[in-house]
Amino acid sequence: MDQETNRNRDYVRIRFYVIAAVLGWSGILGGSFLWNVYQGKQEILSMARIQAQVAHQRDVIYRRWNAESGGIYAPVSQKITPNPYLKIPNRDITDQTGRPLTLVNPAYMTRQAHELAESAYGIHGHITSLNPIRKENAPDPWETNALRAFEKGQKEVSAVETMGNAQYMRLMRPLMVEDSCLKCHASQGYKIGDVRGGISVAVPMEPLWTLEKARKIRLAGGHTVIWLAGMIGILAGAIRLRAQIRHKKKAEDQVRESEAQLRVVNQQLEEAKDLLEEHNRLLEERVRERTKELHDSRLEIVRRLARAAEFRDTDTGLHITRMSLYCEALGRAAGLNEMECDLLLNSSALHDIGKIGIPDRILLKHGRFEPDEAKVIKRHVEMGGEILAQSASELVQWAEVITRAHHEKWDGTGYPAGLKGEEIPLIGRIATLCDVFDALTSQRPYKKAWSVEEAIAEIERGRGIHFDPQLVDLFKQALPKILKIRDTYNETVEEGEHQGENSPVQE
Ligand code: HEC
Ligand SMILES: [Fe+2]
Ligand SMILES: [Fe+2]
Repeated sequence: MDQETNRNRDYVRIRFYVIAAVLGWSGILGGSFLWNVYQGKQEILSMARIQAQVAHQRDVIYRRWNAESGGIYAPVSQKITPNPYLKIPNRDITDQTGRPLTLVNPAYMTRQAHELAESAYGIHGHITSLNPIRKENAPDPWETNALRAFEKGQKEVSAVETMGNAQYMRLMRPLMVEDSCLKCHASQGYKIGDVRGGISVAVPMEPLWTLEKARKIRLAGGHTVIWLAGMIGILAGAIRLRAQIRHKKKAEDQVRESEAQLRVVNQQLEEAKDLLEEHNRLLEERVRERTKELHDSRLEIVRRLARAAEFRDTDTGLHITRMSLYCEALGRAAGLNEMECDLLLNSSALHDIGKIGIPDRILLKHGRFEPDEAKVIKRHVEMGGEILAQSASELVQWAEVITRAHHEKWDGTGYPAGLKGEEIPLIGRIATLCDVFDALTSQRPYKKAWSVEEAIAEIERGRGIHFDPQLVDLFKQALPKILKIRDTYNETVEEGEHQGENSPVQE
């Protein structure tokens, strides 16, 4: 929409420029034409004035020639008759043959010459005065004005005037009184230098106007040709501009179109990306679910396995639950992280799995074990280790470590490897302490349960001998938590005498 108005604006601008160019060019050509016409007219007028001046000068020269002679005698004829206004002696004489001669004064001659000029060339001439001797010499209104102007000192008056139906270039100059004039005009009271009158000539403008008209037509023709050439140039320019704008518009349209296509492609890509993300999310979720399922099922198997071993040992199975919860609590006190505590919780449950392989007759015996029997009992550690060995599962690996280490002692007197101090893996040491504490505080077929105080005292006695001294301290610190676990997974116990029984830690 915006583009559309822009383009329209472009077209409007072109139209504006074209109109301006047309007007400007027409103005220039029109101006030039008018100027030329004006100049031509001025030329024509000065030509007419020059013609008039020439005619006038000739009149003046002939008159002067006549006046210098004080008039010229001419034979009397039909045309030349004695001038009644010339009142001097000897106006009329005869030559030797007796032919009558009359004196032709300058004004009279001028009048006769003017008549000839008029009939031959159409050039009017008139000798006149504000104070004419001869009434017919009286001036017309234009001449009257001119004569008045001469009296004020003007030397020439000229103008184009209409006389009859035709236009004339009229020109008039004064006739001043000279010495030679006084012979006949002194009686009128003139002095030398006065304005006696004037001669006016009138040149017909018609032939000159014809010239001018032809010239005008030529000018108009030439100007029209030049004007047309300019117009064609302007038109061609406008057409090219319009074509360029159309071209531009097409290019813009193409750009817009490809932009739109790009937007669509982008949007599709965006949608595809979202779809992929959603798909990935679902996949991840499923993987998480499967992993959890796997983890849970493995845990379940481990728990059930642990309970299987437990039933070989005690009736309730709660020993395993408590012992592994103690391990978790002590592990946390010893600085294990969440994942390690979890591993410890589940793997420690398998510590006595090897008891599956001990015959009931020995395992369930009440009363003291013979040395041979004790040896068989001790084999549960190695059997458990064998059962759990070479697993890829970290949980089972931890269970193997715990199983193999949970009868080692800090002072190196334990079994099966007789490891000493920190040679025993930390999780093994933790399991040892927790296993003994629960065994002491539990009732067994061959013994009664010890009180917590007695059990702690027993553990204190084993500090640095049976148990890792640092773990003993941590265990005592964690005692409130331990007791809470013991309360939760309690079994009815009968505390009492336990001297002379099989040692609970011997298993
Ligand atoms: C020989 C005598 C004579 C002389 C010289 C003469 N004039 Fe005239 N002039 C006349 C007469 C007569 C008339 C009167 C009428 C006519 O003949 O048209 C006249 C008429 C004129 C007129 C016409 C107006 C009118 O009064 O009717 C003018 C103008 C004029 N003269 C100027 C001059 C001037 C200027 C001179 C000197 C250069 C001159 N004349 C010399 C005799 C003379
Ligand atoms: Fe054991
Ligand atoms: Fe145990």
